[in-house]
Amino acid sequence: MNEMSGVSGAVTAYLAEQEQKGFLRFITCGSVDDGKSTLIGRLLYDTKLIFEDQLAALKRDSKKHGTVGGDIDFALLVDGLEAEREQGITIDVAYRFFATDRRKFIVADTPGHEQYTRNMATGASTADLAVILIDARKGVLTQTRRHSFIVSLLGIRHVVVAVNKMDLVDYSEERFREIEAEYKAFGGTFDFETLEIVPVSALKGDNIIDRSPAMPWYEGPTLLDHLNTIEIDGDESKRPFRMPVQWVNRPNLDFRGYCGTIVSGSVRPGDSVAIAKSGRTSQVARIVTMDGDKDLAVSGDSVTLVLEDEVDISRGDVISAPDSRPDVTDQFSAHVIWMNDEALFPGRPYLLKAGSQTVTATVTELKHKIDVNSFEHLAAKEMHLNEVAFCNLSLSSPIAFDPYETNREMGSFILIDRFTNQTVGAGVIWYALRRASNIHLQALDVDKKAHSELKGQKPAVLWFTGLSGAGKSTIANLVEKKLHALGRHTYLLDGDNVRHGLNRDLGFTEADRVENIRRVGEVAKLFVDAGLITLVSFISPFRAERQMARNLVEEGEFIEIYVSTPLELAEQRDPKGLYRKAREGKLKNFTGIDSPYEVPENAQITLDTSASDAESLADDVVRYLVQHGFING
Ligand code: ADX
Repeated sequence: MNEMSGVSGAVTAYLAEQEQKGFLRFITCGSVDDGKSTLIGRLLYDTKLIFEDQLAALKRDSKKHGTVGGDIDFALLVDGLEAEREQGITIDVAYRFFATDRRKFIVADTPGHEQYTRNMATGASTADLAVILIDARKGVLTQTRRHSFIVSLLGIRHVVVAVNKMDLVDYSEERFREIEAEYKAFGGTFDFETLEIVPVSALKGDNIIDRSPAMPWYEGPTLLDHLNTIEIDGDESKRPFRMPVQWVNRPNLDFRGYCGTIVSGSVRPGDSVAIAKSGRTSQVARIVTMDGDKDLAVSGDSVTLVLEDEVDISRGDVISAPDSRPDVTDQFSAHVIWMNDEALFPGRPYLLKAGSQTVTATVTELKHKIDVNSFEHLAAKEMHLNEVAFCNLSLSSPIAFDPYETNREMGSFILIDRFTNQTVGAGVIWYALRRASNIHLQALDVDKKAHSELKGQKPAVLWFTGLSGAGKSTIANLVEKKLHALGRHTYLLDGDNVRHGLNRDLGFTEADRVENIRRVGEVAKLFVDAGLITLVSFISPFRAERQMARNLVEEGEFIEIYVSTPLELAEQRDPKGLYRKAREGKLKNFTGIDSPYEVPENAQITLDTSASDAESLADDVVRYLVQHGFING
């Protein structure tokens, strides 16, 4: 008991002290070689204050021993981070905590290697300030430019450039001035609110906390002085109220609460609120927390709101100020940072997560890429690892957002690969696109049901996929003939044919193949609407697009047919002589040779052409259709 109150007392005193101090989040950018870890280590060590592990112990103790006076402040700190963690984007970012007698700090420590731009972007999205490290011996590198660009893109207005390892250039003022001038020459284009360039040696401790006697020519502040005194005007609580709903808490019929973390603004019981997407309004009845009801909750607080009225709210909705609502859109322009080894292709669907909202998204137009060295705009058809581009995106359903400029939390998103579940991109939203706003789906009286009833069949897509020369077209052709003989209504879309018309503008790069399949998927959907049994015979080498085509039609309507032929056999057959050309290097991007084919994992039908002839494989397909009730036998 004694021990408990001892711990509680210490925790309370500590937290009360911390509560009084300002709070600065910053990020460090640079590679390990630039001395980033040394710099962070020195800041943590030399400030001789609380270390993470001690803080973790504090947290454990305060949990174990129940509620303590200062618990709220601590929870605020941790909750903020947990919200990010839930977004799945902080995996490789370590947050370190330290404090001086002026301020407390959270440093997002991000791995600095080039391909870890992803982690940097993650840390940057919540930072007020960035410390960009430069090795004095190496000067400004491509990486420095990239980091500065991303920092600016992610809306960080305050930058410190730490020119490190000054000890290794004999504390040379000349070298420092050179780097300073070079950085200013391009850093100026970003219009940072403050830019401080400090010569330091993290290893020796020069100009980190104490002024360096070795660099008397430097008259600016030390790194810590600057961090301690810089003014950041980030009072989130003054901005319009936003709370994305994480989940609806409904333990019984008498209670319904909406849980989430307030990302901006504040709220009190009695306040009017609006639900961003539905536009419904109500008043806040109660603000419920672990520590009882509150009469005020501000940005950063995790709370449960109870409203006066029964309104329909679910995860992903945003409860907001009624007089200043977020935008709601299913199309917008954004900067995207691509973080995946596999390229991004316009037309390919990804999952987009913005706060607690998750939808399917595609890049409809890649406007331009940005060269990180010259900051020039470049035309592009795809995006590769670490590239940044300005794009238009289209979503499967609308989301609520604010432009990133006005609200970083509400204006940022991540892109997730639908198969690997990995974060593959991040983006910041600039504005909604209204172009398609006057187009509504027209309800047609003669609908799919009417079409298919008249034809006496259940429409379907028979999607034949496989290598070139596998036998797709041969089998599809036979299947169509057999169905036709049975009096069925069909249409066969064949890759080679469609590429002569609708898709004449497309070649065989990955980007073009994605678009090829997207278009034919849409056409197949229309034919299914017309009640037809639609046969599609395309190599369609990528899982993502086959999945997309599947999702365009109703459950059960899409029958994936893998025409399985070993590459050697297809190459041996080589009906069009294309394999030979590809082997001779006269034909680029040939599937199976220098362009990949992703074998279907869950095809409804697999046809092994090395074991049976086309005739009997076509019979297998017709039998499948009878057995599954698409047609009568
Ligand atoms: S897909 O990959 O985009 O689905 P699609 O089925 O439309 O391909 O077209 C494939 C046909 O185009 C092949 O059967 C072949 O006749 C021809 N072709 C020409 N160049 C290529 C290539 N580089 N890779 C694959 N097929 C090619």
